[in-house]
Amino acid sequence: MDKLLIEGGARLSGEITISGAKNAALPLLCAALLTAEPVTFSNVPQLNDVRTMLKLLEQMGVKVSRDGDTVTLDAGELSNPVAPYELVKTMRASILVLGPLTARCGEARVSLPGGCAIGARPVDQHIKCLTAMGAEIKVEHGYVHAVCPKLKGARLFTDMVTVTGTENLMMAAALAQGETVIENAAREPEVVDLANCLVSMGARISGAGSDVIRIQGVEKLHGAVHRVMPDRIETGTYLCAAAATGGDVLLKRTSGSYLDAVIDKLLDAGCEITTERDAIRLQGPKRLTAVSLRTSPYPAFPTDMQAQFMALNAVAEGTAVIRETIFENRFMHAVELIRLGADIRIDGNTAFVKGVPALEGATVMATDLRASASLVIAGLVAQGETLIDRIYHLDRGYEHLDQKLLALGAKVTRVK
Ligand code: UD1
Repeated sequence: MDKLLIEGGARLSGEITISGAKNAALPLLCAALLTAEPVTFSNVPQLNDVRTMLKLLEQMGVKVSRDGDTVTLDAGELSNPVAPYELVKTMRASILVLGPLTARCGEARVSLPGGCAIGARPVDQHIKCLTAMGAEIKVEHGYVHAVCPKLKGARLFTDMVTVTGTENLMMAAALAQGETVIENAAREPEVVDLANCLVSMGARISGAGSDVIRIQGVEKLHGAVHRVMPDRIETGTYLCAAAATGGDVLLKRTSGSYLDAVIDKLLDAGCEITTERDAIRLQGPKRLTAVSLRTSPYPAFPTDMQAQFMALNAVAEGTAVIRETIFENRFMHAVELIRLGADIRIDGNTAFVKGVPALEGATVMATDLRASASLVIAGLVAQGETLIDRIYHLDRGYEHLDQKLLALGAKVTRVK
């Protein structure tokens, strides 16, 4: 199992290119299930989660061809509308095949994702809403089994804002009979990217990016070519790494427009930020000022950036209060940061982070994707060596992480 060895203290400087968004690419690849014609995606990041999704689609009969960051999917014949446990267990986003498979094949069998490190994460809303669209759904032997010869449009309301739930339902509704209205829809930019792709495939969708999405079902969708949007969480993570080290970095092929809440906090922390149409430059201060935050659905502060800001606050001047409202168990990085010398107290869904002048290198364990990113940031500022174990979590979501950090002057080594 690979580990990442970081020698702290280097100030990050230089420029790197941001990759395509993992959380946009995963639903987009599933959208190819909705048509018998080939769909081509560019700017697809080379990540383990993308590889898992392609494997999942391949075993259903989808023909996959890949050339660098371009992927073409041909779902002309779908022989096996099943997502087996072995693949789903490694990636919760596999649930995104449920909507498109039911719509296109009239049947789907998708393993229940089960729990994950950051909480229970049930899929009850996906099931409730597909049922409202006429699907007969049984949960048996650990699988969601959906049957419906033709889904019907319906008015759908989810109890909470769910990103993959909104995406699943939008894809299912694209081929349903009549109109579907998704209320309380997720407004994340990745939902909009998916809607844009579906529209270029012939779907009739309006309102994506707001909390009410309307979809007029069509008989058939056709092939398309689509570029995956930039990864806003990868962008935010490198901004934090630069900020923590007092660095000066330019991130290219990305946009600040998806990151208002994060940029706002970085400005409050004392950073200077300039945004261009497709680039962001950040210059960090000598010492950051602590910033409190509360995670909420987009456009508020993203839960996927909470851990990275905990690392920033660990070395900032002052005390920050961090409230996590999306996932019930998303503070596992705190105990690892404490091993590096951070002063953090957890009370329920709130973390109190009192900045210390310096962290000290140690061996720490990555527990989930974004928690791992926070340990990398902490390792970059810690005195001495930090060894991060289980970095397969990072490989799920950060393309060429070690090469990008090296390009910015960090002292990192991947230990096999
Ligand atoms: C997506 C992102 C993930 C991000 C999260 C929140 C992808 C592939 N993943 O995950 O990186 O952290 O949004 O921004 O895009 N819930 C239920 N029942 C459901 C669905 C959700 O109770 O049927 C709950 C979840 O447990 C969680 C909350 O709703 O507490 C939000 O989850 P959701 O938005 O669905 O997260 P994901 O789409 O899985």
